[in-house]
Amino acid sequence: MCGIVGYVGGRRVLPVLMEGLRRLEYRGYDSAGVAWLEDGRIELVRCPGKLTGLDGLLDGRRDAASGIGLGHTRWATHGAPTEANAHPHTDCTGSVVVVHNGIIENYYSLRQDLAAEGHRFRSETDTEVLAHLVEKYLDGDLLAAVRRALADVEGAFALGVLWTGAPDRIVAARRQSPLVLGLGTDEAFLASDIPALLPFTRDVLFLDDGETAVLTREGAAVCRLDDGRPVEKAATAISWDAAMAEKGGFRHFMLKEIHEQPQAVLNTIRGRVVPETGEVRLPELGLDEAAVRALRRLSIIACGTSWHAGLVAKYWIEEWTGLPVEVELASEFRYRRPLLDGQVLAVAVSQSGETADTLAGLRMAKERGAPVVGICNVVGSTVTREAHGTLYTHAGPEIGVASTKAFTSQLAALYLLGLYLAQVRGDLDAAARREKIRALVAVPGILEGRLGAWQARCRELADRFYGCRDFLYLGRHLGFPLALEGALKLKEISYIHAEGYAAGEMKHGPIALIDREMPVTVVAPRDHVYEKVLSNMEEVRSRRGILIALGEEGDEALRQTADHVVEVPRPPDPALNPFLYAVPLQLLAYEIAVARGCDVDQPRNLAKSVTVE
Ligand code: G6P
Repeated sequence: MCGIVGYVGGRRVLPVLMEGLRRLEYRGYDSAGVAWLEDGRIELVRCPGKLTGLDGLLDGRRDAASGIGLGHTRWATHGAPTEANAHPHTDCTGSVVVVHNGIIENYYSLRQDLAAEGHRFRSETDTEVLAHLVEKYLDGDLLAAVRRALADVEGAFALGVLWTGAPDRIVAARRQSPLVLGLGTDEAFLASDIPALLPFTRDVLFLDDGETAVLTREGAAVCRLDDGRPVEKAATAISWDAAMAEKGGFRHFMLKEIHEQPQAVLNTIRGRVVPETGEVRLPELGLDEAAVRALRRLSIIACGTSWHAGLVAKYWIEEWTGLPVEVELASEFRYRRPLLDGQVLAVAVSQSGETADTLAGLRMAKERGAPVVGICNVVGSTVTREAHGTLYTHAGPEIGVASTKAFTSQLAALYLLGLYLAQVRGDLDAAARREKIRALVAVPGILEGRLGAWQARCRELADRFYGCRDFLYLGRHLGFPLALEGALKLKEISYIHAEGYAAGEMKHGPIALIDREMPVTVVAPRDHVYEKVLSNMEEVRSRRGILIALGEEGDEALRQTADHVVEVPRPPDPALNPFLYAVPLQLLAYEIAVARGCDVDQPRNLAKSVTVE
């Protein structure tokens, strides 16, 4: 997740670009850069690190006499956060310049072909191929060259392109990555997100997938990428205030991040699977295939929500590979005798990559000779530096203290890891993997379609139950870690006492707590333990507990048994249920916390990253 900005018009371009980038820094901040046209030449300044570094390099140049340029703030995917890998990227001649957000999936083969044709590459990024492709196809018409270049590209992009040969225009295009255009008087803007535009204009055009636009002082001319057909678009006037703008129009970062989950999951999957062949590609793990085949066990080490993601993965990986999987609370694991060796794969799961206990567990695993894989969201964090290989979740920065999109993107990464192990070890054949990949790829679309309805339903439930003192969450099999996560979300942000329990364990204790005052939230998909869960619900009902069930659409039996139902669609494979049930559980906690007037994004006593023991 990176941020891009562009401007053409009568203002001095650098202050516009820098202000826009500041407002996009939430999208990533490991390096940044700007390029502008001055005296017929491209000027390029890039810097690793946060935006302040770039700002310093622009001292004495901010008033450059230029009214056209592009800027970028990066969240590394291909290549380390160095100056050479920072955007903008240029072609061989330095006259074409590109900023890009997204992932070019076929960049490796494009790069090989272009290099064979004589193009010289200066970075390790996927983006640089775009600059060279545009150079290859340039024949006096920038838009035509961009369209031809993008016809060769597989993957996702939002991009801006500038060429010295057409000094009055920027060409923008998008497929699966966000891009909005801003319109002013004799000026036009582009940006990854609305907040970057708000200091300058409130009139925006949303570019849709497969569209491209030419931005000039006269405005934006939009057409289709494939056939060049013009597209008529009406501008939308944005009425957000400054605080809303920072949160993308949402009331809280947590809600914004809940809504970003379809994109976060998609970004984590993207470029790592070939649905047609059932292949999973994870070269970043750096795992030797013979070592994968020799594995005897997995040990997943994590804290908090990341630990819950690990618990879900245990069910998947044991089922698919037959390998035993232990899921360790890092704070416990570090003080035990670690039973690890070179045939145990240690997996450190951490959003921040800085959690002290998880790091201690990772180091112990390394000392014992175990291969260590990190699953992490923050590029360059300690986990990623110390693990032998890292599978990044591409969720983008998570600001709300209660983890949401990090959780579902960790699930996606762990699902891929499980399939990869099964592939290398020969535990699942190509047809089985193909089905599992197809099912996973369907998840973002299913989530996208349900977010609105789930939120409305959870608000109704919150209005009813926000005054309760205690909640019990129950689930079995994959529903059990979700019950734990649902309870954790509620207690973190609403301060209601909540307990997650394996439904089958209810009779061994929590059943004593149930009375008319006690809401019991049950994760009840129609999987192979569904009937068992229904019996547990009956036990709650006969003690007059209040039953809130999350279950499949159209499940009549569930409706008969529960007092309240949140409907969840049936996924192509029940293995995907954790993705689908996590989101309404997050929304239920969110709406209850809002109804109680709690500080949702910064709950008392908690920290986003626990860097001390
Ligand atoms: C803190 C956060 C949680 C997070 C946990 C582990 O408690 O508030 O949201 O799940 O740390 O953090 P990590 O960055 O290692 O995933």
